[in-house]
Amino acid sequence: MITVVVYSESGGTFKTTTTANLAVSFERMGLDVCVIDLDPQEGNLTSLFDVGEHRSDPDADNLVKHILEMPDGEFDDLIETSDEGVDVIPSHDMLGDFTSNLEQKIAYETGMKNMSKAEFPRYELLYDLLWNEQQLNEEYDAILIDPNARAEDLLYNSIYAMRTLVAPVKPAGKGNLSLEGLDELVGNMETRLDIEVGLSCVVPSGVGQTNAHQQYSEQFKNTDEFATPVAIPDRESLMDTMWEARGSAYKVIEERWKTLEQDGEMVSEPGQRRIRDRELETARDIYELAAFVATETFGVEIEPKLTLDIADHGARSFEIGAGDEPEVTVR
Ligand SMILES: Nc1ncnc2c1ncn2[C@@H]1O[C@H](COP(=O)(O)OP(=O)(O)OP(=O)(O)O)[C@@H](O)[C@H]1O
Ligand SMILES: [Mg+2]
Repeated sequence: MITVVVYSESGGTFKTTTTANLAVSFERMGLDVCVIDLDPQEGNLTSLFDVGEHRSDPDADNLVKHILEMPDGEFDDLIETSDEGVDVIPSHDMLGDFTSNLEQKIAYETGMKNMSKAEFPRYELLYDLLWNEQQLNEEYDAILIDPNARAEDLLYNSIYAMRTLVAPVKPAGKGNLSLEGLDELVGNMETRLDIEVGLSCVVPSGVGQTNAHQQYSEQFKNTDEFATPVAIPDRESLMDTMWEARGSAYKVIEERWKTLEQDGEMVSEPGQRRIRDRELETARDIYELAAFVATETFGVEIEPKLTLDIADHGARSFEIGAGDEPEVTVR
């Protein structure tokens, strides 16, 4: 089974975009996929996938209540299915108060049991819920978490439950993860959680044409310390349009979503986007990334062929492992 937290230290490193595209890739590979959104902020995976109708309703049952063992309903009722078939446990505003709610629980329970607060297994709650209580391993082939990037309880719960990281990194800007920084990060997690944490791969993302960007990406590709199966170029138009199409980069391409100006306003519509080879190649790269995670990190068998059914343009297929150039066949 595939269990992954998409994480890197800094904000805006395309974590949500990467999580969404990986999840849909796994789904297209024939796997049953669930994504857990632990980020309460705007612009999270829940809004990308257009789920989570009750995320601001304080009375609605939500994942936090289940993690804290005070559910208001069935766990299965939390799960919504996105347009592209990915199951999502959506975000809820209560995630923002997770730590204070947890502190209350810890104070109460340690008081009752006469134990010290430090003894309370605060990072193991999500693990217990997903694997011991709900046995999601029997229902899904892949579970991904898009965590709140802040290094606090929810992030540690995510890593404790999933054990493996995929790290998107972004060239330029402050807060870049250096090669050593990434090692240190994993080491710190392991010490704090007292578990082994695997780093499946690093994904340089948003790589532009400048020398600095190219060198940055090469630096990652050339290290033996961890795998860098693909680098995702700067694809702002394609990735930003995911938020309009409410789905993956594949959906943007297949339904040909485009944002354009109409009577002084920006509108997004399907059926408008031009077919660009570089975007098809990026779709293939995303699929290849998912294939790497599935087969190399987790030994899970997958469908190696990606077929994009592009509106009014027929189908394009790419076969993973069929050589460097995408094998494009038009049906
Ligand atoms: N390869 C790419 N090239 C250019 N822009 C991209 C790329 N991938 C994603 N983006 C855009 O970058 C922005 C931030 O991406 P995203 O929301 O995935 O980051 P994040 O790491 O989840 O951010 P946060 O830390 O706020 O959760 C989005 O507008 C997205 O469309
Ligand atoms: Mg995000």
